[in-house]
Amino acid sequence: MNTPEDIINLFELEQAARTKMGNQTAWDYYASGAMDEITLRENRQSYERIFLRPRMLVDVSQRDLSTKVLGQKVDMPILIAPTAFQKLAHADGELGTIKAANRCGTIMCLSTLATSSIEEVGAQADNNLWFQLYVYKDREITKDLVARAKAAGAKALVVTVDSPLLGRRERDIRNRFTLPKGLTVANLSKAGLENLPDDGSGNMPGNTKESGLAAYIASLYDESLTWKDLNWIAQLSDLPLLVKGILRADDAKRAIKCGAEGIIVSNHGGRQLDTAIPTISALAMIKDAVPKDFELFVDGGIRRGSDILKALALGARAVLIGRPVLWGLAVAGSEGVDLALNLLRKELDLSMALSGVSSLKEIKRDLLVDRKDLI
Ligand code: FNR
Ligand code: LAC
Repeated sequence: MNTPEDIINLFELEQAARTKMGNQTAWDYYASGAMDEITLRENRQSYERIFLRPRMLVDVSQRDLSTKVLGQKVDMPILIAPTAFQKLAHADGELGTIKAANRCGTIMCLSTLATSSIEEVGAQADNNLWFQLYVYKDREITKDLVARAKAAGAKALVVTVDSPLLGRRERDIRNRFTLPKGLTVANLSKAGLENLPDDGSGNMPGNTKESGLAAYIASLYDESLTWKDLNWIAQLSDLPLLVKGILRADDAKRAIKCGAEGIIVSNHGGRQLDTAIPTISALAMIKDAVPKDFELFVDGGIRRGSDILKALALGARAVLIGRPVLWGLAVAGSEGVDLALNLLRKELDLSMALSGVSSLKEIKRDLLVDRKDLI
């Protein structure tokens, strides 16, 4: 299982990435969830508790995995979630990820906290880049990030709303997580905020005897953010707005009122509030509360093609994956991201064939077994 060609599923990719990365601090940052990591585990285990009711004797000889997100065609319902600091995995970093997204016909969402700038990544994009926004206390910085994303060709603005402060990730605290020399928060160089605090430099306020990222966020992100600010963000550009990190139906409705064209149901991969609801359960609750064609997305713990089938059956337009992309990068740079995406794509294709569906629009709730029907 040492070469990428031998890897047959995302769990093997994860193991290979762990071996390859070597740097324990970086690995822990990618892998960890908040506190007891209960939500991190439940995101995954919830999928394992959902059972399928496949339909037989359906002609599945022609299968189509393509769909539209925000009016744009993608070859598969698997998008790339925003994850910070991709160069910790491999020098290809975010540029490697966008190139893989191009080859696989999907969308990449770039994090505000990327190690490559929106301009660099935008230059490689094929109309398939979204920008994830963290709102800085300094509104001029926030405004400028949105304007730069638009100018760099981003097709949507994804505002993450679950992080007024960083979740308590105990591994990062223990490791005093910070970026190694040479890596920076590239989008914030212009504002002079490209460095995370560390034990020695003290160039940032905050308690540097903890996670440097937690200190960075506590000092710079706007903890006072409310729905009214979402209205303000919506009018900063004409980019479609997606809200990421919603876990309740009432919040989903409010987001729609603020002009959101999509919602990403997410608990941040279990990294923010531990014991927050697993995302597949939240999706089911939110789906019932929003207009039928409203675009819902979900992320967290998606590791098998059948997970995607379940998420779509519960009403997601597409899913996003976070850590598997980082594992792919770690193992084989840009090509490794293709590997992660293609493993999932193939598994989804097979799950569809074995369930008696040949296109995404045929994936309905009745493919799933209701809890009450399980003996
Ligand atoms: C994230 N996530 C995240 N989300 C976001 O809105 N902005 C960000 O900068 C980051 N950074 C980040 C870094 C790392 C290392 C991870 C693992 C996650 C959350 C991410 O977008 C997504 O919600 C989860 O990763 C989905 O869960 P899985 O697929 O990793 O289980
Ligand atoms: C994280 C932040 C950066 O999850 O979103 O680490």
